[in-house]
Amino acid sequence: KAVVFDASELLHTDQLKQLREFFQPLLRSLEHSAHLLILGRAPETLSDPFAASAQRALEGFSRSLAKELRNGGTLQLLYVGQGAEDQLEGALRFFLSPKSAYVSGQVIRLGTCATRVQDWTRPLAGRKALVTGAARGIGASIAETLARDGAEVILLDVPPAKTDLDALAARLDGRSITLDICAADAAAQLIQQLPDGIDIVVHNAGITRDKTLANMTPEFWDAVLAVNLNAPQVLTKALLDSGTLRDNGRVILLASISGIAGNRGQTNYAASKAGLIGLAQAWAPLLSERGISINAVAPGFIETQMTAHIPFALREAGRRMSSLGQGGLPQDVAEAVAWLSQPGSGAVSGQALRVCGQSILGA
Ligand SMILES: NC(=O)c1ccc[n+]([C@@H]2O[C@H](COP(=O)([O-])OP(=O)(O)OC[C@H]3O[C@@H](n4cnc5c(N)ncnc54)[C@H](O)[C@@H]3O)[C@@H](O)[C@H]2O)c1
Repeated sequence: KAVVFDASELLHTDQLKQLREFFQPLLRSLEHSAHLLILGRAPETLSDPFAASAQRALEGFSRSLAKELRNGGTLQLLYVGQGAEDQLEGALRFFLSPKSAYVSGQVIRLGTCATRVQDWTRPLAGRKALVTGAARGIGASIAETLARDGAEVILLDVPPAKTDLDALAARLDGRSITLDICAADAAAQLIQQLPDGIDIVVHNAGITRDKTLANMTPEFWDAVLAVNLNAPQVLTKALLDSGTLRDNGRVILLASISGIAGNRGQTNYAASKAGLIGLAQAWAPLLSERGISINAVAPGFIETQMTAHIPFALREAGRRMSSLGQGGLPQDVAEAVAWLSQPGSGAVSGQALRVCGQSILGA
């Protein structure tokens, strides 16, 4: 059910026909939910312009073929850096399994990484993870998935969510912290509650306050920017400066395809989510010295309480505007976060991974 095509040696235009020759006959025999992966070399690392052009051509090919796949098939392009070949296993285990069921048409760059997974049955064993907004929805699913993969989990949410938060923390053998991430002393409180440090932080807490800009109140604007963008910035900096986030740590920011495509009625939300993608891009090179990676995960239409509030017609459109023709589940986002949390996933940093079924929005 999985196909890997190594296109890293396709360095001339005339060699690109190998893509057609290989994939065309294969298309007829693909089973349901087939996972296809093309390997290449990042164009910006190649000095020969024609070679770079051929490798860039892979992007157009893969994104288009991903749209032509039927029956839940997915396809990604993985640009593998020189010396990064030994980091392929984690990526293959994610992209060639049902864990990436709602990821398609993505282009990911793999670099080198000093740390690796020891036990693939519990890839996060021995790692401590903090998940914000973990009382429900995507955050709850992330906490469950990180715990399944062996991490010790610390669940954070606002005080009114305490009952749900405590129940989930107890079920996962984890701890809970009730805290408004926008409180003036949130950073100090958080650091004080994490005296033993953490290895993974997932900034999942987020809110929407939708209005067209003409009708946007200052309260709606400020609330969304405060929760979605300012708090992850301030808290991550405090976790780094205090050494609470240990070397080889993983930072994952929950963005959104709205932050890539823009969305009517969401100037505040899209600004906050685009800001998170920019934060990951800008911070990644600075954190690599400590072996810390920072990435954004950009979900598309995911079935949660947040999206249940969207009017029916828009909700249905959200589902159908993707190559996979349906909404995703919190678990789909959680699996992407779990993969980026792994010790070996320092090979990916400064990137935005879309979990959107290849939505046409912002593609
Ligand atoms: N559901 C989707 O389709 C979708 C799509 C793209 C992105 N996202 C993003 O994924 C994340 C989770 O979304 P969801 O649908 O599960 O949302 P949700 O509303 O179901 O859950 C969000 C959680 O964050 C918590 N939270 C909110 N403000 C907080 C604060 N100040 N301090 C601490 N906790 C706070 C809430 O109490 C809640 O438990 C959000 O960042 C959201 O923007 C969701």
